[in-house]
Amino acid sequence: MFKPLPLSTFIHTSLALSLLLVVHSPVANAQTLTFTQQQVDAGKATYREVCQICHGSSLANGQFGTPLKGSFFTDKWKGKSLAELVTFVFEKMPPDNLKSLAPEQYVSAVAYILSRNDIAVSGTPMSTDKNSLGGVMLPW
Ligand code: HEC
Repeated sequence: MFKPLPLSTFIHTSLALSLLLVVHSPVANAQTLTFTQQQVDAGKATYREVCQICHGSSLANGQFGTPLKGSFFTDKWKGKSLAELVTFVFEKMPPDNLKSLAPEQYVSAVAYILSRNDIAVSGTPMSTDKNSLGGVMLPW
């Protein structure tokens, strides 16, 4: 038989629940790692044009650049923020022609690299505003 809970239980539960929500809201609001298939496609084109010469056609067979795919790459960036990765690429790549690409090209190249490291595309584009990417953590 259904036995109604005492009102006090209800009040306590909802109080606890709202506290929980307050405590957890930063997590709930933390951005997730997102990028679109269009960004991946654009990034692939940029990669082939600009990055492949050093990092290799498979992203891990470059003569002049470190692997951008597999455990060498993921172990290094695991747990860091997307902002750190994007900032590194914006400021340090390509080393022979720094800051030569548009923000959208850099972000797309990063999206392409992430997609090659088993991160799925979604409907939401990755922002080109580095400041808004600080809360996005890299998985693996
Ligand atoms: C002239 C050769 C060269 C070109 C072109 C180049 N890179 Fe690099 N890249 C390097 C080298 C060398 C490193 C290692 C430098 C370091 O770790 O400080 C590196 C490191 C990286 C890293 C960090 C890898 C890690 O494990 O930390 C990323 C990401 C990256 N490159 C992305 C790109 C992208 C995207 C492009 C194209 C827009 C690009 N690179 C073009 C030579 C190159």
